[in-house]
Amino acid sequence: MKEFTDEVRKIRQPNYPINPIIRDRWSPRSMTGEGMTDDELFPLFEAARWAPSSYNNQPWIFIYAHRDTPEWKPLFNLLVEGNQGWAKNAAVLVVIISKKTFYHNGKPSHTHSLDTGSAWMSLALEGTSRGYVVHGMEGFDYKKAPKALHIPKDFQVEAMAAIGKRAPKKKLPPELQKREVPSLRRPLEQILMKGRFKKRIGQA
Ligand SMILES: Cc1cc2nc3c(=O)[nH]c(=O)nc-3n(C[C@H](O)[C@H](O)[C@H](O)COP(=O)(O)O)c2cc1C
Repeated sequence: MKEFTDEVRKIRQPNYPINPIIRDRWSPRSMTGEGMTDDELFPLFEAARWAPSSYNNQPWIFIYAHRDTPEWKPLFNLLVEGNQGWAKNAAVLVVIISKKTFYHNGKPSHTHSLDTGSAWMSLALEGTSRGYVVHGMEGFDYKKAPKALHIPKDFQVEAMAAIGKRAPKKKLPPELQKREVPSLRRPLEQILMKGRFKKRIGQA
């Protein structure tokens, strides 16, 4: 675990002190291929459960599958080839969906994706703190997912995630080894606008 966090800390140096777990979370691809028990996995979902949401609607649902179980294939088959290449070593795949309407009155929710995004982040942070890879994925078939997984119409398919035990990058094929590096971020001045929308520094 220590060697894995040291590599992030060398590269990521926030301009203001922040909670270390936020800096330490990143999206490696190299996983051992070992499984996870439900006792290892469920605390990550428990963390997601406590996320804030508009009207406390909790619109998130996590459809999950352990590798080497009958549920795995329908989720794995949704992934694009590029993601299948490394996610095959995950212990668990997750499809994150979000209810588009409120449970209490059936009216549309403007914030269901935002709410579910915050639950996803809690899951990712909890996983990171426990030494797991939690890697989000947009590279899958959004059109096929509802039918393949029996998802009702009032749910939006948001993203997938691969969760597993971290492995050294040499387990990856050479082209992915090159990309197994924590990324940086735009500076704060490019994401802040005081009072109203305006052109940011460096924007055409
Ligand atoms: C919703 C979402 C979808 C993503 N889709 C993919 C994907 O399909 N394949 C992939 O290799 N990485 C994917 N990523 C990982 C991002 O590329 C990564 O989060 C981003 O580059 C920032 O890096 P970091 O997570 O290591 O901080 C995704 C991440 C998120 C949150």
